[in-house]
Amino acid sequence: MKSKEKSTYTVTPVSQLKGSPRVPGDKSVSHRSLLFGALADGTTRVTGLLKSGDVRSTWGCLEAMGVQIREEEDGTVVIRGVGMHGLKAPQSILDCGNSGTTIRLLMGILSGQPFEVQLTGDDSLRRRPMKRIAAPLRQMGARLDLTRDEVAPVKMKGSKVLRPLAYELPVASAQLKSALLLAGLYADGETTLTGMIKSRDHTERLLPHFGVPVQVSQTTITVRGGHKLKANSVKVPGDISSAAFWIAAATLVPGAQMQLNDVSLNPSRIGFVHALRRMGARIETQLLEERPEDIGTIRIASASLKATSVQEEEVPALIDEIPLLAVLATQAQGRTEVRGARELRVKESDRIEAVAQNLRAMGAQVETFEDGFAIVGPQKLKGARIDSMDDHRIAMAFSIAGLVAEGPTEIIGTECVDISFPGFYESLKDMTSG
Ligand code: S3P
Repeated sequence: MKSKEKSTYTVTPVSQLKGSPRVPGDKSVSHRSLLFGALADGTTRVTGLLKSGDVRSTWGCLEAMGVQIREEEDGTVVIRGVGMHGLKAPQSILDCGNSGTTIRLLMGILSGQPFEVQLTGDDSLRRRPMKRIAAPLRQMGARLDLTRDEVAPVKMKGSKVLRPLAYELPVASAQLKSALLLAGLYADGETTLTGMIKSRDHTERLLPHFGVPVQVSQTTITVRGGHKLKANSVKVPGDISSAAFWIAAATLVPGAQMQLNDVSLNPSRIGFVHALRRMGARIETQLLEERPEDIGTIRIASASLKATSVQEEEVPALIDEIPLLAVLATQAQGRTEVRGARELRVKESDRIEAVAQNLRAMGAQVETFEDGFAIVGPQKLKGARIDSMDDHRIAMAFSIAGLVAEGPTEIIGTECVDISFPGFYESLKDMTSG
């Protein structure tokens, strides 16, 4: 079979950056706005929704189950909620594309539906672990099958009322936590999660925004089944994980100054800002809105960096930014070490391997561990051919590396940036040209 030709983008080193780019909507909040809007009674209006590959996967799955979603001229997305029990059996297999959030949160919701449905996705998604979701859902009485390797396609065989669950989360995964909380809404009693509950908290913030109480303490999260979701409007903040690429660029390019507006400053998401500040970055934030999401302005001025260390407790708040942090570490004075980040091995690609392989291609030295890496800087990066591994965050992190490398850097396989950041290369071009 002839393989499809991949798109490439060539980044050349720059001496200045122009302008303050717009940051696209938060991917996690966008998924949840669609899902919760669909389950609500009434019409939900969402402004700033991210229109990207991953979010289109959630949108398409919901439409296939009878939910009407439309976009108005100004970009506002309107969801006609069908209520907790209004989803219909789809005509065909639900395709979750590249999106872990789509498949895992839907597994939680679909555990409480009486119909049969199958969920699948692209090659990357079909390699990612699903047993961590399936096992506790089965404890709740959900009937579902995975493949022999415990991955998707997932067969949901239809369940009635679920049993409530008391469960100690073994990984700090917001997708796992959210799937169980959503299944908990269909359970006959209180579902309580303990253990590694400290991951991004958008579900805990947005369910109450849709009228469902969630009790959160330092060590537990509890929901009770039987509530109805009430439609509400949602303003989606800019995604800090997308803003991170511009924060990195503005930090690295001498003389750069940048302001990013309407970006998420949710404390469970801004670990990258904290880590960078420790490295000497000049980043100011101003909180302008709180509840359901913290939103504000970020100002960045270029700075020289020193090394830092990131340990397990800090990882959930910057998990998606670690490939970019690795790029920054090559430019920082001293030894940067990231540990406790084993989850990177099971993201859209094995991100520890992807980072190490591509930094080495650029002439850098990297030590890898099962749960992280160490990089001693500063190191000169040489322009190279970069394999994105069809992973959006790898493509974008190495595009930023290309800004400070010697010679051109060719990113192979750039179409994946559409997963979280449509328009990334247009913005990069605007900032770096002329
Ligand atoms: C997400 C949770 C994180 C994150 C992903 C989005 C979410 O994954 O990496 O990009 O929206 O809940 P895990 O739950 O696997 O940590």
